[in-house]
Amino acid sequence: MEIPHKYSLDVAVYQGGFGSGKTFCGSLLGVLLCLKYPQIKGLVGAQTYPLVRDTTLSAYFEHLNALGFDEGKDWGFSKSERLLRFKNGSEVMFRHFDEPDKLKSLNLGFAQIEEMSDVPKSVFNMLLGRLRQSIQPCWHNFQYRLFGHTNPEERKGWIYDTFARNPPPNYRLIIAPTTENIFLPKGFVDELRKSYDEDYFTQNVLGQWLDSDDSLVVKGFSDSNVRNLDYDEHLDLHLSCDFNVDPMSWVVAHKTESKVFFIDEIVLENTTTARAMDEFLTRYPRHKGRIVINGDASGDNRSCTSEFTNYSLMLRKLALHGYSNVDVEIRPFNPPIKNRVIAFNTLIRSADGELRIFIDPKCEKLIYNLKNLKYRSGSSQIDIPTYHQIRKNRELKFLSHPFDAASYLVEFYFPLAI
Ligand SMILES: Nc1ncnc2c1ncn2[C@@H]1O[C@H](COP(=O)(O)OP(=O)(O)OP(=O)(O)O)[C@@H](O)[C@H]1O
Ligand SMILES: [Mg+2]
Repeated sequence: MEIPHKYSLDVAVYQGGFGSGKTFCGSLLGVLLCLKYPQIKGLVGAQTYPLVRDTTLSAYFEHLNALGFDEGKDWGFSKSERLLRFKNGSEVMFRHFDEPDKLKSLNLGFAQIEEMSDVPKSVFNMLLGRLRQSIQPCWHNFQYRLFGHTNPEERKGWIYDTFARNPPPNYRLIIAPTTENIFLPKGFVDELRKSYDEDYFTQNVLGQWLDSDDSLVVKGFSDSNVRNLDYDEHLDLHLSCDFNVDPMSWVVAHKTESKVFFIDEIVLENTTTARAMDEFLTRYPRHKGRIVINGDASGDNRSCTSEFTNYSLMLRKLALHGYSNVDVEIRPFNPPIKNRVIAFNTLIRSADGELRIFIDPKCEKLIYNLKNLKYRSGSSQIDIPTYHQIRKNRELKFLSHPFDAASYLVEFYFPLAI
């Protein structure tokens, strides 16, 4: 709230975790500026209007209520103008930044940006140029203010460059971990520590940037996740599938309420779903419990060359073999890869250190994936080997598909909270 320098302009970003008070503090600052500097003009914007309306604007209303101001008497909001007016002549516009050109002729005393990591640098620059409202005689020690609040950028980007790498003296970065918000319900943060992996926790709870060097997709994996596991013919036996022809990658698992045990993998080169199914039946000929098929949701699409979907073909083979207690548990659509990665990482090792995935050493290719699958340098894309790379190094063709197979199952039963 307070500015520790005397420059005529203050530029600040309040970067924090989920529920760290970003919207609360930013909106309170906006209200206080309106009260302190009569006739000030403020702009509050986000990349989309629903975001600014549903979060920032409602926080303004909450503050006005909490401060004991009456709607109609002390302030009013015009929906058509999207404008909040105070009795002292101060005004705040609520806008989206989709068409920044429309905001070009404004003269503002302050500007507030909701979820700054979604907003391009050009909009930030444009707003800097709008902070030129003429200073009223009654405004003592006035400083123009541009302030934003945000979760950290996915990868270090313009906010990092502007506020952390080499900031001018009137630019400030305030990092607000969720752990420091004493107003949250008891146990809120502990719950997040259990539900997230370490990176996701660092970013979205501690509010810090992650290093964007090329990094492993599954970071918390260690030898503690590998142990000899027993197959139990009475338990549910999960078969989770990625239908790639070369290699076809399936994993076999048992599961409890909170843990997954990968007991085996079926990774075959140049094959078909039918042949992989034969291999499964050879290995598990007399299972007594239920068989549950999981995996790629697009494996259920009929392709024009095959009469059956992959899953119906598997079901038919299982039935012919005499298995009747069989279910298919897949999503109607695949979730974003990112969700699978976070879910898998959380179970491999959550931010509070608990391991909930165990892998038998037999699952060589799956373990190879966990040790080697990386992001493409400087991006959030998984580095999937190209045809040329695979020609040079055959082992690379086993990268990515076994991880896909395993993570479909994990994401299905343990989806990301929030
Ligand atoms: N200084 C404070 N005094 C009282 N309550 C506060 C304070 N700061 C934050 N809170 C409360 O903490 C909760 C989270 O705040 P807020 O919604 O602003 O967080 P956020 O960082 O914007 O969250 P999100 O990541 O969901 O956007 C709210 O219920 C808010 O009222
Ligand atoms: Mg918020």
